[in-house]
Amino acid sequence: MSKTRNILVTGGAGFIGSNFVHTILESEEDVKVTVIDKLTYAGNLRNLEKWKDDKRFQFLKIDITEKEKVLSLENELEIGEIVHFAAESHVDRSILGPEEFVKTNVLGTFYLLELARKLKEKNKLKVFLHVSTDEVFGTLDHDGAFTESTPYAPNSPYSASKASSDHLVRSYFHTYGLPVITTNCSNNYGPFHFPEKLIPLMILNCLRGKPLPVYGNGGNIRDWLYVKDHCLAINMVMKKGKFGETYNIGTRNEKTNLDIVHTICDLMDKKNPEGKPHRNLIQFVKDRPGHDFRYAIDPKKIESEIGWKPKYKFEVAIEETVNWFLENRAWWEEILSGDYNLYYEMQYKAIN
Ligand code: NAD
Ligand code: TYD
Repeated sequence: MSKTRNILVTGGAGFIGSNFVHTILESEEDVKVTVIDKLTYAGNLRNLEKWKDDKRFQFLKIDITEKEKVLSLENELEIGEIVHFAAESHVDRSILGPEEFVKTNVLGTFYLLELARKLKEKNKLKVFLHVSTDEVFGTLDHDGAFTESTPYAPNSPYSASKASSDHLVRSYFHTYGLPVITTNCSNNYGPFHFPEKLIPLMILNCLRGKPLPVYGNGGNIRDWLYVKDHCLAINMVMKKGKFGETYNIGTRNEKTNLDIVHTICDLMDKKNPEGKPHRNLIQFVKDRPGHDFRYAIDPKKIESEIGWKPKYKFEVAIEETVNWFLENRAWWEEILSGDYNLYYEMQYKAIN
């Protein structure tokens, strides 16, 4: 096997996948990164524009639910490692239309595992890292946190589809001895975050003087993870993780949704004083059906066994995130001027 890391990144044009590509290409020389991505509404080649002329990088437009295309990659590419981000990722969309979630998240993962199996038979595959979510564990009350042995209890079509894919990944370790590892992380935030998710939506609605829709009473809790810390963690797990194991990734950073919205409003008061006070834009809207109350990660295993620790403090990272959106207006204006805006308005109507 060659010394060069040949990494296949699925879903690398999305939020976390593109941040992972940046992390790898900024920190490693002897590496080749191939991104495969269908470029759904959430995939955006602008996220990867920086690397378009870099010899270590290539992009292929591939839908992971197209079996033949996925399996043929065995002959077309040198692949030593696979890191699998590609997915339908938004809970609200899964409530309105679950079918794509089952296709991409379950069937797509299955075809990638079949590709991995072929690579393993030829002794080429070093690791298959499957990126999953803490939402597979269901919801918590006020106490406790998810560990790697918390039973699965997914509550949304999104989390159920991710749980299904996690089980398939696990089975390929036990049945075929595939070198798989699964990571289950909490909610990410940071640059390139698609503006349907809570944090970018609130930043951009503040900037445009639009309502800030808070579901229910805003008391639901998420455990926020800066995407750059997450990507460093994934790379470390790819290098040091044990095959067949799972690792939870989180930074003990629980916040209610209202805390998050207030933090963003207060930062925007400083950076966009003409819109002050942004808290006046908050609107409490109808709750999400089946809304999980609380997620919280116990990260002891990845800390003690892998030696990973977050580098960023929330206060610094959330300000960096707000600044990124202020400085990258063309990126989000392009998204907001497309079909996405129409979808958002329809979805907003559907849930209210
Ligand atoms: P995203 O929606 O921003 O990006 C998903 C990417 O996958 C897009 O580029 C999209 O074009 C691509 N894709 C979708 N369907 C595809 C298909 N059929 N074939 C090929 N490519 C396809 O998602 P994200 O937030 O970057 O999430 C990445 C992964 O991390 C997902 O597996 C998600 O479940 C997981 N995750 C995300 C979070 C989070 O907070 N964002 C938290 C936990 C886990
Ligand atoms: P989201 O970013 O969609 O991530 P997830 O559902 O995977 O946790 O939502 C984060 C939290 O914010 C969740 O509790 C739902 C809530 N939320 C709102 O209150 N308003 C919104 O407009 C959105 C998109 C989310």
